[in-house]
Amino acid sequence: MKRTEIKSLLNEATIGAEVNVRGWVRTKRASKNVAFIALNDGSTIHNIQIVVDNALADAKLLPKVSSGAAISVIGEVVASQGSNQQIEITAKNLEVLGEANPDEYPLQPKKHSLEFLREIAHLRFRSTTFGAITRIRHSMIFAVHQYFTQHGFYNIHTPIITGSDAEGAGEMFQVSTLDLNNLPKKEDGSIDYSFDFFGKETNLTVSGQLEVETAMLGMSKVYTFGPTFRAENSNTSRHLAEFWMIEPEVAFNDLIDNMDLAEDFLKYLIQYALDNNMDDLLFLSNRLKEEEKGKPENLRSMELIEKLKFVLENEFARVTYTEAIQILKDSKPNKKKKFNYIIEEWGADLQSEHERYLVEKHFQKPVILIDYPASIKAFYMKQSEDGKTVRAMDVLFPQIGEIIGGSQREENYDKLKNKIDQLGIPEEDMWWYLDTRKFGSVVHSGFGLGFERLMLFVTGMGNIRDVIPFPRTPQNAEF
Ligand code: 4AD
Ligand code: MG
Repeated sequence: MKRTEIKSLLNEATIGAEVNVRGWVRTKRASKNVAFIALNDGSTIHNIQIVVDNALADAKLLPKVSSGAAISVIGEVVASQGSNQQIEITAKNLEVLGEANPDEYPLQPKKHSLEFLREIAHLRFRSTTFGAITRIRHSMIFAVHQYFTQHGFYNIHTPIITGSDAEGAGEMFQVSTLDLNNLPKKEDGSIDYSFDFFGKETNLTVSGQLEVETAMLGMSKVYTFGPTFRAENSNTSRHLAEFWMIEPEVAFNDLIDNMDLAEDFLKYLIQYALDNNMDDLLFLSNRLKEEEKGKPENLRSMELIEKLKFVLENEFARVTYTEAIQILKDSKPNKKKKFNYIIEEWGADLQSEHERYLVEKHFQKPVILIDYPASIKAFYMKQSEDGKTVRAMDVLFPQIGEIIGGSQREENYDKLKNKIDQLGIPEEDMWWYLDTRKFGSVVHSGFGLGFERLMLFVTGMGNIRDVIPFPRTPQNAEF
């Protein structure tokens, strides 16, 4: 018999129909005459209740129907007596597909900590929380592609192995097939990469931007959505060593157009989640409320769905770095030395505590900060007339801090070349990027949205390790 997914069963089941459902047992409750099984197959957050009469021949199998076991049930859809669900299934036939020994199965039907679930990442897809996150993550991936398709963008697969450092921050993972115990050396003692797989030094990419810019000069509107890798030793709740980034790049767009695109794109994604993932969002919202019950009221965050709607309904504040520095200098936490990093002068890099102060305390809505000092931003950004700032933009979100980083790009060959020389970036890595400024160069802009940062915001989760299936962080590459 063909399997019916629990989601479609709950949406369109007819009372009296005979169906086959398969999935994993969440809980089993036995009474004198019948057993109640809560079954989930991942298609929805909701379980279907299966009622098994102890008189049924198959009921002998019930001891094997424990949490985590995979079962197949054929039965009749009936209206439920219980208050938690509209329908349930009266089992006629029960088959245990895969047992899960209760003495060994780590996911018991009780609340587990997120830390514990991370240790069993291979099993956490079966927890309600991670199931909800997984469905929302898929939904957001789909919405990203849908948004760009609807707006005439082309998706470009940029390379994962590269020879250049797009952000110039030097936080790269090296890719090599050389024998680490027996490295070929040049006469001066340095490693001879001509013997390496690609005949040169290569790394995992930190960003697909440089390559996607080349596609933009020809296709006009492009984006890349791929894995990116950063060997920064930041053990925070917002950093991963391997994360996914969405990077659109648009010909003829200046910084204002870039801000408009970023704001419209983020709002589209959030609206998409509200329209398509409400069951999962409601669960996560309640989960968050439970978690925050102990906290004093002024420290609790805004209810999740309210928060998502709030972002949709408000225009993002657009503020220059110079204005932001003044606000921060005048702020209470700066004057009272409550910040870990005190803002003293123009030119200081902003930490997430400052970004969050601007968003959560001062403006109380998302903020787009623009026109940063050139010295704290990447080499490719459009240099301003003032000679000090670049046309950068960071989008700052409540609880997250920086969710997007982007800029208008320097399209002038001489200016870009000077900058590359000044910073000592090897020209043999950048010749092709510089070439784009020689042949049909145009004003253009783009940005990078950290996909897991978006997921943090949409799900309300507090730790980035809980919104990606298999997090990679310093000292951790399990699974
Ligand atoms: O600001 P970033 O470094 O910008 C770039 O890489 C540009 N090349 C993007 C572009 O203009 N095409 O990174 C962009 C975003 C950040 O705003 C943040 O959301 C996310 O990527 N991000 C991280 N997310 C998780 N873990 C990390 N270690 C991250 N580093 C950056
Ligand atoms: Mg950035």
